[in-house]
Amino acid sequence: VSTAEAGKVYLVGAGPGDPDLLTLKAAQLLALADVVLHDDLVPQAVLDLTGGGALIMSVGKRCRRKKITQAAIHDLMISWARRGLVVVRLKSGDPMIFGRAGEEMDALRAAQVPFEVVPGVTAASAAASLLGVSLTDRRLASRLVVLSGHRAGGRLPEPILCSADEPENAMLAIYMPGNTLAEVTASLLRSGVAATMPCVAVSDASRPEASYRAFRLGGLDKLPATAGPRLLLVGRALEAALDRSPQGDAAGLDSVEVLTALLHLE
Ligand SMILES: C[S@@+](CC[C@H](N)C(=O)[O-])C[C@H]1O[C@@H](n2cnc3c(N)ncnc32)[C@H](O)[C@@H]1O
Repeated sequence: VSTAEAGKVYLVGAGPGDPDLLTLKAAQLLALADVVLHDDLVPQAVLDLTGGGALIMSVGKRCRRKKITQAAIHDLMISWARRGLVVVRLKSGDPMIFGRAGEEMDALRAAQVPFEVVPGVTAASAAASLLGVSLTDRRLASRLVVLSGHRAGGRLPEPILCSADEPENAMLAIYMPGNTLAEVTASLLRSGVAATMPCVAVSDASRPEASYRAFRLGGLDKLPATAGPRLLLVGRALEAALDRSPQGDAAGLDSVEVLTALLHLE
């Protein structure tokens, strides 16, 4: 794009954190935007690509602006677009994956405000790249199952898997596992998933502070909390990642922490 349409809302994927992973279209829209409404997980390095005169507003729900409601975000997008501004709604990763894009598109449709979605690199892709593990290695994972560890409406779905053999021939990518690790672990074990199933928690994928911890499912509930965003991968295909970790196979351990710095030394 060399221009952006006035009076339109762009739902833009900011990717997992590394500004080099933005699409060209996302970077160009940031430079042209009048207003940028962004989530908490969008780092400053990405916001720095916004043009000088733009109004930049955090509408994230994690930290300072906990009180902002989804309806208030809809109102902001609609009112600014109706004033003829170029509005960028900037979301971490891909807007269509756990990004509330469904609700926001519905609100924009109802208000008859034109919009466009610009995809981004989702966290699971960045995590897989960090680990050097294909999410759909056809020898080990014929399916990729994308799950949320967040309790929508206060409860996790039970069971969280469709079938017990899922992680044997699929890769589970669990977003937002923060507060529900014990529940997720218990649910997977109840579904019959082996306690030895490899799990890797990847934090801050694509960022300078990226790290991961490799676990067996049986030890997953002991995973300590982290400040940054974290994604949990579960599946047999991760066995290779455990074997390749600098500490060797994690079979007998509760966890193996691997910092990106160590990976770079390999
Ligand atoms: C509200 S969801 C948004 C997901 C986003 N739309 C995407 O496609 O990646 C937020 C969750 O995404 C995951 N996430 C986002 N960025 C991440 C990163 N750089 N490293 C690891 N996980 C990340 C974490 O599970 C986090 O709790």
